[in-house]
Amino acid sequence: MQKRNLGRVLAAVLLATVTHANAQDAAAIGEEIYEQHCQSCHGEKLRSAGAIPDLRDLGANDREKFDKMVMEGRGQMPAWQGVVSPLELDQLWAYVRSRAR
Ligand code: HEC
Repeated sequence: MQKRNLGRVLAAVLLATVTHANAQDAAAIGEEIYEQHCQSCHGEKLRSAGAIPDLRDLGANDREKFDKMVMEGRGQMPAWQGVVSPLELDQLWAYVRSRAR
């Protein structure tokens, strides 16, 4: 392999590793935010006891619904606008997606 190509391959591998690590970090932080704000209603590790929606059932395309619900609330679901930052919302979503079923 030419030296120049090797450099490109290494850069690609490095980038993939960093991106993967970031997704894992986001989910790990999201888990902490979830435990702090959401777990009391939505259940430990997202396992709902029944009456409240189980967030593991959200699909990859439900991001908009998730954002709206978390920011605005509905009925017994509190609004988190001003409490959960946009970054924390991303991290919560990463956590929810990491445990999707
Ligand atoms: C006080 C209890 C309570 C807390 C705390 C709570 N939720 Fe909820 N959540 C609910 C209830 C009840 C609903 C169903 C509301 C409805 O549909 O009328 C709900 C619905 C949702 C939905 C919509 C799910 C769906 O499939 O329709 C999402 C997303 C959600 N909550 C995310 C969160 C997140 C993220 C947090 C933490 C930041 C959180 N909730 C904290 C009670 C709570």
